[in-house]
Amino acid sequence: MIGIIGAMPIEVDAIKAIVENKEEIHIGSIDFVKGTINKKDIVVAQCGIGKVFAAICAEAMILNFKLDYLLNVGVAGSISNNLDITSIAISQSLVQHDMDTSPLGDPIGMLSGINIVNIEADKEVVKKVEEAVKKVGINYEIGVIASGDQFVNSKEKKDWIKENFNAIACEMEGAAIAQVAYVNKVPFCVIRAMSDKADGSSHMDFAEFTKKAIKNSVEVIRALI
Ligand code: ADE
Repeated sequence: MIGIIGAMPIEVDAIKAIVENKEEIHIGSIDFVKGTINKKDIVVAQCGIGKVFAAICAEAMILNFKLDYLLNVGVAGSISNNLDITSIAISQSLVQHDMDTSPLGDPIGMLSGINIVNIEADKEVVKKVEEAVKKVGINYEIGVIASGDQFVNSKEKKDWIKENFNAIACEMEGAAIAQVAYVNKVPFCVIRAMSDKADGSSHMDFAEFTKKAIKNSVEVIRALI
């Protein structure tokens, strides 16, 4: 079974709409939609915004459904010059740009306990996603996606994330889902379409381009599954 998590209703409703043999299952605080896409078993859920909601949802999904792999889809702010609005970022790895125990001598972003900064996405799943994106014909880049509990809205913050993590895009859930998948040994990949450029006008671009960007990520899911 393939698990798909998105943060906002707009990110998951379009995927739920193409699910056949739909069954709704409520577990804890999460509404799961189970069914098939192209005859493949899938489960979809909307987690809400931010790393805590994302982690709650990923753990509930992993514990209650037998996942072959887990995808996180949605929109992101572009950090890479190669990613225009509506282009796709595919995760090579995920970092948490707001995790910081550096006063204790750790590298910025190190996840205490598992003691790594970058959580690597599953290479096979990344390859499958790349093939799907190529098939759809959308511009894409594979690289580091940075997550944090903030909407990035300044050149200074964007540059800081780029300098510290070599990230190509920023969002608010992917690395939390990656961490939960990592500790549960579930293969995962994050697929994000660019809704804005994470700069001073990102809030306006986000409002204008989110719908368009999401259309691209749904196309990729369709091609992938
Ligand atoms: N999701 C989409 N755009 C974003 C941004 N600029 N910062 C954080 N998350 C985002």
